[in-house]
Amino acid sequence: MVDEKEILSGTALADDVAVEPTLRPKILSEYIGQTKVRENLDVFLTAARGRGDPLDHVLLTGPPGLGKTTLAYIIAHELGTGLRITSGPMITRAGDLAGILTNLQPRDVLFLDEIHRLSPAVEEILYPAMEDFRLDVMIGEGPMARTMKLDLPPFTLVGATTRPGLLSQPLHGRFGIALRLDFYDVESLAKIVERSAKILGISITPEAAREIGGRSRGTPRIANRLLRRLRDFAEVAGKGRIDLPTAREALSRLEVDEHGFDELDRRILATIIEKFGGGPVGINSIAASLGEDRGTLEDLYEPYLLQAGFLQRTPRGRIASAQAYRHLGILPPRKEGSLF
Ligand SMILES: Nc1ncnc2c1ncn2[C@@H]1O[C@H](COP(=O)(O)OP(=O)(O)OP(=O)(O)O)[C@@H](O)[C@H]1O
Ligand SMILES: [Mg+2]
Repeated sequence: MVDEKEILSGTALADDVAVEPTLRPKILSEYIGQTKVRENLDVFLTAARGRGDPLDHVLLTGPPGLGKTTLAYIIAHELGTGLRITSGPMITRAGDLAGILTNLQPRDVLFLDEIHRLSPAVEEILYPAMEDFRLDVMIGEGPMARTMKLDLPPFTLVGATTRPGLLSQPLHGRFGIALRLDFYDVESLAKIVERSAKILGISITPEAAREIGGRSRGTPRIANRLLRRLRDFAEVAGKGRIDLPTAREALSRLEVDEHGFDELDRRILATIIEKFGGGPVGINSIAASLGEDRGTLEDLYEPYLLQAGFLQRTPRGRIASAQAYRHLGILPPRKEGSLF
């Protein structure tokens, strides 16, 4: 059972994990939206394939659920190489990473998720491995200690993170290709919903797919989740397909509003407007006032509110836009010289 409050979370929930592998596009041409990323990656893949070289190391950044893991799978598939998957928190000791690296086949892709959570000792191992395909192993201790250099097979590291700001500069600098995923537009999300519906054997009208797309906070994972919830509603209502009235009724029962805002989105905007006069106000003050963690607000909430035009970030802090006032049904303050 999914907690209704979590239905709009970009982070994977238990029931997403089971279904996502079947919904992941396997080749680059099936990857919907993110045109710039897709076109650039296509050029790099084609060039690497043509030369027979490993692809340059790739850093994928962007909020949860936008398709970073999906792209890592696609990269290995398009290169026709093996894929080894691990993550920052899984590698606790330098030796863990050394073991993985020495077991790679030439041109393999190593996917390192949550790369911002690597420990400094593990990062040290990664630098020469990325740069020169070399492993520096320390043997012995004290005055007898010496470094042994081991050659590694050439490989491609694909790193992913939702928090690029936490990545150290030297690590960041070692990626030849950096791709930033952005929130999806409604059109792309509607296409993703229609594609997923086909795979899952759900019948849905184009209007209903658009409706879901518009309420998914720009996030494919949320769009796919809403599609599955709406299928339940359509089945219980005895309808064979999800049409627009069914979609609207179900989304309102799930308390998913027209922008896909959840309770915290609304509280953030209300706090800035009601407690801080609409801003500018610092993120720390907003977090303290809401009793929420600053990182949660910055990583999971603010990016979408900024991109959708409800918040503006200025050097002096966050400001609620006129759109935010309207959304909450509050009259925006009259500005000097403004006509409204
Ligand atoms: N461009 C796309 N086209 C079609 N489906 C997509 C696309 N991007 C993502 N998806 C769908 O969204 C789901 C979530 O994507 P994915 O797991 O790759 O996100 P992520 O960025 O790795 O998230 P996290 O930060 O939580 O690891 C996938 O299972 C896939 O079905
Ligand atoms: Mg992922």
